[in-house]
Amino acid sequence: MERASDLSLTINSPQLSSELETLATFSEAPAPAVTRVVFSEADRRARSYVKDLCGRAGLTVREDAVGNTFARWNGAEPGLPAIGTGSHIDAIPNAGRYDGTVGVLGGLEAIRAVQRSGLRPRRSIELLLFTSEEPTRFGIGCLGSRLLSGTLEAAKAANLKDKEGKSLDEWRAAAGFRGALESVLLPRRYYAAFAELHIEQGPLLEQRGTALGVVTAIAAPASLRIMIEGDGGHAGAVLMPARRDALCAAAEIALAVEAAAKSTGAIDTVATTGVCDVFPGAINSIPVRVRLEIDVRDIDQARRDSVLAGIHSACEEVAARRKVTISRETINADSPTQCDQTIVEALERGAAKHHLACQRMVSRAYHDSSFMARIAPVAMLFIPCRSGFSHRPDEYASPEAIAQGALVLAEALAELAA
Ligand code: GLV
Ligand code: MN
Ligand code: MN
Repeated sequence: MERASDLSLTINSPQLSSELETLATFSEAPAPAVTRVVFSEADRRARSYVKDLCGRAGLTVREDAVGNTFARWNGAEPGLPAIGTGSHIDAIPNAGRYDGTVGVLGGLEAIRAVQRSGLRPRRSIELLLFTSEEPTRFGIGCLGSRLLSGTLEAAKAANLKDKEGKSLDEWRAAAGFRGALESVLLPRRYYAAFAELHIEQGPLLEQRGTALGVVTAIAAPASLRIMIEGDGGHAGAVLMPARRDALCAAAEIALAVEAAAKSTGAIDTVATTGVCDVFPGAINSIPVRVRLEIDVRDIDQARRDSVLAGIHSACEEVAARRKVTISRETINADSPTQCDQTIVEALERGAAKHHLACQRMVSRAYHDSSFMARIAPVAMLFIPCRSGFSHRPDEYASPEAIAQGALVLAEALAELAA
């Protein structure tokens, strides 16, 4: 059998670019923006498109009860734990076209590159499209990988609802995914290794002129939902001393979130109030109820937790002073993830083989790999994106950068599967 290091792997960059372009057309927002919320019409059509491409590559496709989609190229010893790669295709409102999709279509092209090389790997190589990496619909990120890894219990997942009260079960049934959520859990040793290709979503690679980043750790994310209940009324008639305005309380909390993150003095601490829903939301009505959703992250879990504690005390202080009721719910508070040295080195060898500069780095964004790490060795490969922009319509990664990422991923998949 041919040695993986002797293979001559090539990426069909025009085809990959054209597939990314087509995928971007499945969107609920006009181009260049992409909005593709899980289980929407756009998401369903995008899934069909990706499955069709996988079928054309001769991969065997299966879907689980939550819509995680596996496309497998069987190895010579299909009973061995497989080598996995993949990412997500859902996109937050008003996003760009590269977040997640580069890891799905780039992962597919990496598999096709290994197929074209003539290698018949011992282990199967599998592309995995995760359901709902983004928290848009159900308020929690990495839904598919949390269920795959047993990080989220099926019973808790079944209770998830969107803002209109429509449940995960209703949504997945409408999208054609049925069966017990318990069945989503993957057995340990299902994957011998999992490697995810992704845009960096930060500026470091571009600033340093480095082609690739190999991720050694992923920051610890947490998210909170805070409900503030005050008193409503007529915007003209209720005088200022009598008010218990829920939005004014929420505004103070949003500022406290910012202050809590800054107070650590660490550049790695970040916190964002990204959702603020105001009820009833009329110009001449005092806000009676506000829902905030807050995202806090750090490489250091203890420091991240100190920010959460700071936010909790700010809520108590604001509630007492403004005489509003504040309830808090921790949606998730996850640990940081350490990547696997063997996969990190395989990616680095792939980069070196093609004389591509690469550096080790941490991921400040979260990824499905964070959760896959609980059941398999994982690592990630980052490519630069323009100005580090992500989660916005002008997100951009060049075809050359994407092809380089797919090539180095292909090298690592070939080596790990050979
Ligand atoms: C993923 O989309 C993240 O918010 O890090
Ligand atoms: Mn994202
Ligand atoms: Mn992503």
